[in-house]
Amino acid sequence: MRTVSVKASRSYEVKIGRDLLKTVGAEAASLLKGRTAAIVSDSNVAPLYLEQTKASLESAGFRTCSFVFPAGEGSKNGQTYLNLLEFLAEHQITRSDTLVALGGGVVGDLTGFAAATFLRGVAFIQIPTTLLAAVDASVGGKTAIDLKNGKNLAGAFYQPRLVLCDLDTLSTLPSDVFADGCAEVIKYGMIGDPGLLDLLETTDFRADPEEIVARCIAQKRDLVEEDEFDTGARQLLNLGHTIGHGIEACSGYGLSHGKAVAIGMTLITRAAVAFGQCPPEALPRLQSLLKRYDLPDTTGYGAEELYEKTLSDKKRTGSTISLVVPTAWGKSELQKVAVSDLYHWIEKGLNL
Ligand code: GLY
Repeated sequence: MRTVSVKASRSYEVKIGRDLLKTVGAEAASLLKGRTAAIVSDSNVAPLYLEQTKASLESAGFRTCSFVFPAGEGSKNGQTYLNLLEFLAEHQITRSDTLVALGGGVVGDLTGFAAATFLRGVAFIQIPTTLLAAVDASVGGKTAIDLKNGKNLAGAFYQPRLVLCDLDTLSTLPSDVFADGCAEVIKYGMIGDPGLLDLLETTDFRADPEEIVARCIAQKRDLVEEDEFDTGARQLLNLGHTIGHGIEACSGYGLSHGKAVAIGMTLITRAAVAFGQCPPEALPRLQSLLKRYDLPDTTGYGAEELYEKTLSDKKRTGSTISLVVPTAWGKSELQKVAVSDLYHWIEKGLNL
C-alpha cells in the first residue's frame, strides 16, 4: 500500500492499495468523532461493494444508512442533490457524522457537494471505484453538480477527510471505462512527467496499477498544494479538457469524458506542433500511446461547432481562454489565448 499526503486547506491522506474497502470502518473511526456514516453510491457500484463497505463501518461501531441513485452523469443534477440532502436530514445526520462516497466521479462530485453544503459542512470520505476517479476526481476537493447549461456549474472546493483507493475495485471495471481513466493517466505524463510516459510506453500497468496511480495522485497533490483554488498551476490539469469539453458537448455528452480528453489532447498537441511550440515527434508518440490504451484521437465535428461549444465552457475569462499547451514530450504550459484565436487552434488541431 502507498500513502500520498495532501496538505491543502484540510490535510488528508490518500491510501492506494489492494483490499482496502474492509479498512474503511477502522480508518473512519480513527479520524472522526461521529457515529453515523451515510454511504452514497450508484446503481452500478452498490451491488458490488455496498455490503462490504457497510460491514466494515458497522464493525467499527458506525450506524449506517445508504443512498443509492441511478448510475450516470444524468443523475449529477439538482434533483438528485436535493434528494440526497433530504435523505441526510431524514436520517438525522449531524455535523459530527460523515458521508462516504462509494463510486466514480459522479458519486464523488455529488457527495462532496452535499457534504460541503449540508449543515454548512459535514465530513466526507472518498472511495473511488473507477480509475478516472482514483487519479483525478477523488483528490483535490473539487465538488459539483451539473446544471442545464453545462457540467459542474454549481459546486464548491471542499476537501475530503480521507481517500481510500482500493485497486481491487478497478478490476471489475468494463475495459471501456478503464480506458477513460487511462486518458487522465496519459494526461499527467503529458503535463510534466516524461518518466511516466516512458513507463506507459514500455509496460502495461493495467494488471498492477498501484505505482502508476500513486504517481498520478502525487502529481495532482503537488498542483493542488500549490494552487488549491484553481487560479494558476492547477489549471495544467485541464490539458485536453478545453477542446475536450467542446467535443463532449458536441456529442450531447454521448462520448465519455476520457475519450473526449484523449481527442482534445491530440488536437491541442497537433496545433502546438503547427504553431511551432512543440516538437513534431510528440504528436505521433501521443497518438500511439492513446492507441495502446484503446483511446481515440480523431473527431468528426467541424471547427465551427467545436469552437462554439468550447467557448461555452466555464473556463473562459472575458476575452481570453486558458489553454494548456504541450511544449515538449512530457511538458506543458498554460497560455492565455484570445477568444478570437481559439478558432485557429481548433482548425490547426483538426488539421484543416
Ligand atoms: N479535475 C481537475 C482538477 O481537479 O483541478
